Amino acid sequence: MNVPNLKEARKRSDKPVLYKEEQLLYSNELAGKKYFLRTYGCQMNEHDSEEIKGILDFLGMEPIEDMESADVIILNTCAIRENAHDKVFGYLGRIKHIKKERPEVIVALGGCMSQEEHIVEEILTRHPYINIVFGTHNIHELGNYLLNCLPGKQDIEVYSIEGDVIENVRYKRDSKITAWVNIIYGCDKFCTYCIVPYTRGKERSRKLDQIVKEVEALKQEGYQEVTLLGQNVNAYGHDLDENVEFADLLEAVAKTNIPRIRFVTSHPWNFTDKMIDAIAKYDNIMPYIHLPIQSGSDRILKLMGRRYTKEEYKELYQKMKERIPNVAITTDIIVGFPGETESDFESTLDIVESCQFDGAFTFIFSPREGTPAAKMQDDTPLEEKEERLRRLNERVNYYSRLNNEKLLEHTVPVLILGQSEKDASKVYGYTDTMKLVNVEAPKETIGKIIDVLITDAKSFSLDGKVKEPMKVS
Ligand code: 5AD
Ligand code: SF4
Repeated sequence: MNVPNLKEARKRSDKPVLYKEEQLLYSNELAGKKYFLRTYGCQMNEHDSEEIKGILDFLGMEPIEDMESADVIILNTCAIRENAHDKVFGYLGRIKHIKKERPEVIVALGGCMSQEEHIVEEILTRHPYINIVFGTHNIHELGNYLLNCLPGKQDIEVYSIEGDVIENVRYKRDSKITAWVNIIYGCDKFCTYCIVPYTRGKERSRKLDQIVKEVEALKQEGYQEVTLLGQNVNAYGHDLDENVEFADLLEAVAKTNIPRIRFVTSHPWNFTDKMIDAIAKYDNIMPYIHLPIQSGSDRILKLMGRRYTKEEYKELYQKMKERIPNVAITTDIIVGFPGETESDFESTLDIVESCQFDGAFTFIFSPREGTPAAKMQDDTPLEEKEERLRRLNERVNYYSRLNNEKLLEHTVPVLILGQSEKDASKVYGYTDTMKLVNVEAPKETIGKIIDVLITDAKSFSLDGKVKEPMKVS
């Protein structure tokens, strides 16, 4: 048994990162067993689940949608805000019930919640029916944990380490059209509200040639789009011996000629001119940047440990808008950080007015145990925070809609991803600027980039029709 430790998880040393190959031991003991996997949280977790599915697939297991009939139940959890925890604990109620009826079912809990000390304590004391707890650093060992799982026993294997890089992972990808590609793991920024540096370890970049090789293979398989993933993609390369930065990686990936390249998430602090120029230079790097600001108040930004001021953010934002034709920029904003006054909040509204973001994810501050912000004095009542969130969302949605309306009567390239769930005569996809479009078009367009005439604009989506004659690229 190895339980997590937040103090250990906080440490950062000069120890070199170990680059290892994923080594799965084949066994047919679990072949034919049915597994149910539920994923919470961000793209990183979605992609980790593709690794989990790859491992289970390798062992001959089969996915099912119905948890009640599963032999193995796996939850890949998220820890970013308290409501993510609540959802998982709510779900555990149902699982406990299944275990009562069928004690032979194996239950495994992985992801960011497993990396939290107090959560594992709670599992040990209140959820003894969970068989396996594994963390974010040892997903590649899941097959072994399942094969060694003893009925009625609990195995907790969570490592609070800086982390390694595992290569040659056998992903079972959810899509045949778009693919996630990890480029850097972990985070060293330690923003004071954020649990991620503790749950995901230190910043570790994959080697550039490995990433390019993966993208080339995806292109060969017919993938249209890759999204380069990292908690902070623009920190890419700083820990490598090779002298490369994110801009070099962008260029190298662009030269594979895969049709579309995206990347998330970017920190405003070290986004260089060279990166902006690379995005502007290559047609296959999409003009879309997610650039979390978190707050518009310099005082709060400092308390958050964000390393930039409102003015510096604005300057960067303007530079991107000037140099990258047609760029769309979205952001993340937290309201109700400890000590946020009405005037701090108005500074946030101010920056929303001046940047007019294409979209924003907005959150109420959620104290994460073990982070500095969780200990800061917080006198603002929840109702007031909710009211701030409502006021903020009203402005954010106004500008999303305004930006969407600018596309009315314009023709835009859309990568079609699937059939619309609501209306079988329609398909849906994303513009180069990452806007969701529902299109009147046949399902033969799925997997293709087509020119779409925008006919209607709402806050969160666009409607369109195929431009005649249909141009398919
Ligand atoms: N409370 C609220 N929001 C948070 N985020 C990260 N940590 C917290 C927290 N403790 C938000 C940030 C980040 C996004 C992924 O989640 O805005 O950019
Ligand atoms: Fe969290 Fe800040 Fe790292 Fe983003 S950059 S993951 S907000 S610590």
